[in-house]
Amino acid sequence: MVLTLAHKLSPSVADLKPSATLLINERSKTLAAAGKKVYRLGFGQSPFPVPGEVVQALRDHASEKDYLPGRGLYALREAVAGFTQKTKGLACSAEDVMIGPGSKELMFSLQMALDADLLLPSPSWVSYEPQAHILQKKTHWLETREEDGWRLQAATLDRACAASPARSKLLILNYPNNPVGNSYDGAQLKALAEVARRYGVIVLADEIYSMVHHEGGQCSHAAHYPEGTIVSSGLSKWCGAGGWRLGTFVFPKELRYVLDAMAGIASETFSAVSAPVQFAAITAFKGSPGTDRYVFRSRRVLKTVGRFVYQRLKKMGVTMPAPEGGFYLFPNFEKHRPGLAKKDIYGSAAFCEALLEETGIALLPGEVFGRPPGELSCRLSFVDFDGKAALLASAQNVDLPEGEIFVKNNCPKIYEAMDVLAAWLDQD
Ligand SMILES: Cc1ncc(COP(=O)(O)O)c(C=O)c1O
Repeated sequence: MVLTLAHKLSPSVADLKPSATLLINERSKTLAAAGKKVYRLGFGQSPFPVPGEVVQALRDHASEKDYLPGRGLYALREAVAGFTQKTKGLACSAEDVMIGPGSKELMFSLQMALDADLLLPSPSWVSYEPQAHILQKKTHWLETREEDGWRLQAATLDRACAASPARSKLLILNYPNNPVGNSYDGAQLKALAEVARRYGVIVLADEIYSMVHHEGGQCSHAAHYPEGTIVSSGLSKWCGAGGWRLGTFVFPKELRYVLDAMAGIASETFSAVSAPVQFAAITAFKGSPGTDRYVFRSRRVLKTVGRFVYQRLKKMGVTMPAPEGGFYLFPNFEKHRPGLAKKDIYGSAAFCEALLEETGIALLPGEVFGRPPGELSCRLSFVDFDGKAALLASAQNVDLPEGEIFVKNNCPKIYEAMDVLAAWLDQD
């Protein structure tokens, strides 16, 4: 039967496009299926396999079939609290923890729960702003500068807060950062925390990459502003389990009412994260010498590959902050503007389009992270390699050989992509 009524979409979703990261992944796959060599530097998921003992725990709990509490399995919440104390030095207990189907979904329910405007440094990860848009919340983009490593400055936050002091605000601060690949140090977080406290801003510290800070030991915003900071993390990045869909929020006691509201939203929407995944996650968060080794080696590989790509890009005249954690760089091709203009390229979207078509290299345009469309910034994720093999190779070398040799042997597509990119930029 044909529907005769004209059904309209809600205004807040009518203009929504699929997430840019998922789109580039689909596009790269289509080109690869058509026989084109594609360098997949657009999509950013962990290259590493889930640690064996965590996979075994999932097997062992495959028969768990009951619905679990909306806040999460108590034993898992205890394990997350223990992990947060151990890795970040924050005082917390199981009661402060909420488990969700990915931290992305928890962020969506947080924005739904709060009657607040969203403050976002530009650039920021792709999904924060669309979530605010769907929920019809106002977003204020906060300017940053490349010379400050694209980091939010306390004075900028102060100005944004002073402009509408009566309005409740949620600031999302992500470090190590996607898309930039650098982080904030203790002094920088402290300066931001002082401003946030002065204006009563709630801060969501998105620390999903903190375990893969290349040097380890990432400090938390919550250490400087415990009463107003919610810490976001999960299994996706440090444990290689993005597809398992498990995210964690840790709340201060002062914001327990927000957790309660989010548990209410959970009970009316996703109910709870899948039971076998929650049981398996206990093993991941309790940790072991095996998972410690896995994290140590993951960091070592990411640091080596990140430094290599950074050095190669610098030699091409590309500017960007040095990598400090996670698996991204935020190259700016501004110095190539005259040559690119000859190809009719004046912004990041056209740049990425031409690069993918002409070389098979997939990057994401800076525009989708909130940068002005005319800027020539892009996000590059350096994870197009066999993570399992790279972990093994890094285990065999207590001191990794020079980055170049390691990358050439273990991440050949990344190595080749740098040659291809240099040749493309040199064409003019
Ligand atoms: C900065 C950042 N935050 C949050 C997420 C969401 O992670 P998940 O929903 O898998 O926990 C991602 C994933 O790409 C991310 O890069």
